[in-house]
Amino acid sequence: MEDFDYLGEGEVYLDGACQSLRPRCVIEAVNNYYTEHNSCGERVKYKWGVVTDGKVEATREKVLKFLKLSGKKYTVSFTLNTTYGINLILSQIRQDAFKKIMTSEIEHNSPFLASMAFHERTGLPREVMVRNDDGTIDVDSYDFTDAIVVVNCASNFDGRKLSNVAELTKKIHKAGGIVIIDAAQAMAHSAEVLRGVEVDAICFSAHKLYAPSLGVIVWRDDLAAKMSVGFVGGGMVDDVTKDAYLLSAEGKEHRYTRFESGLQAWGEIIGLGAALDWLVKLPKADWKNLEENYHDLYDFLKSSEKVHLVNKEANPTMSFYVEGLDSHLLGAALSRENIMARTGYFCAHYYLDHVLGMPPLIRFSLGLHNRREDVTKVKKVMEKILH
Ligand SMILES: Cc1ncc(COP(=O)(O)O)c(C=O)c1O
Repeated sequence: MEDFDYLGEGEVYLDGACQSLRPRCVIEAVNNYYTEHNSCGERVKYKWGVVTDGKVEATREKVLKFLKLSGKKYTVSFTLNTTYGINLILSQIRQDAFKKIMTSEIEHNSPFLASMAFHERTGLPREVMVRNDDGTIDVDSYDFTDAIVVVNCASNFDGRKLSNVAELTKKIHKAGGIVIIDAAQAMAHSAEVLRGVEVDAICFSAHKLYAPSLGVIVWRDDLAAKMSVGFVGGGMVDDVTKDAYLLSAEGKEHRYTRFESGLQAWGEIIGLGAALDWLVKLPKADWKNLEENYHDLYDFLKSSEKVHLVNKEANPTMSFYVEGLDSHLLGAALSRENIMARTGYFCAHYYLDHVLGMPPLIRFSLGLHNRREDVTKVKKVMEKILH
């Protein structure tokens, strides 16, 4: 694919779940910002600032459009990454509005640890829910009364999806709770599960969505009433006196500042806008190519008796170990063949190590940059290793 023409001959990148490769147009959009209108956003009145503002605002709108959410109800704020977004929300939420925090067993450490820290800080009980093999949560098995529920919409080791997120959200809202979705993985390949579902907040990392390193918080405006803003600084206020400040986040226009203290990563935000434009215009054939690639690789791994997959279904993200072979050594062997894949527990230690009792694993996570020949090569190299 010419969007990724910088990939060298025979280089196979299988770590898209960590960071996607960026298409040329995204790299160009960031470069253009630096070379053509390198100004601060949201404050500057000179002409470069006007251009930056236009592109930053357009990115906020593109994020909402991508998720099929209305700007009348939702605000988009930028931050560092998914981890930062989840922690920013949980550290500023008013604990008197809730009775407990709930998460699930297949979470990345990002929400998993943040829910523990919340429990330790507030003393509110914490509950870890079970996820079915298909990624769903049995909504009738839990009491969501006044609960903060923080769960992923797609896992980072087998991609299983929270396909009943709409039903879950309805149930939680009815019980007075709120839902914070970790969409770090879902955005790149499973966003359809989440589109139009009116959860309270969605946190994701642009760097897993073909965009530069950046965090995004998409939040329902009524969440503001349940928060006590304590992470404050430049760009957030209408007035400051000796001992007090007036947050400017009350009006819709400046609401995003609630999570945006200080200057933001303007070039990266603009790069996210370019990535979203690229994604929505991508020909169907490119998605089909991804689908064929991961099905092919999954079927190949599944057919070997020595391979133990975590996945129950084909997904662009698949984790496994090979009987009698240390996954880190396997990763090193693949790297010598120019195949880049991750090894270990992928920040999901609790589930993979303590629930499933698996040894360290290897993960192949495919993206839109992968070519058919990548899969052919991986299969060939793996065949040699397995026999
Ligand atoms: C499901 C999930 N949640 C959260 C994160 C954390 O993302 P970040 O490191 O960008 O904050 C990741 C990263 O891999 C992830 O896969």
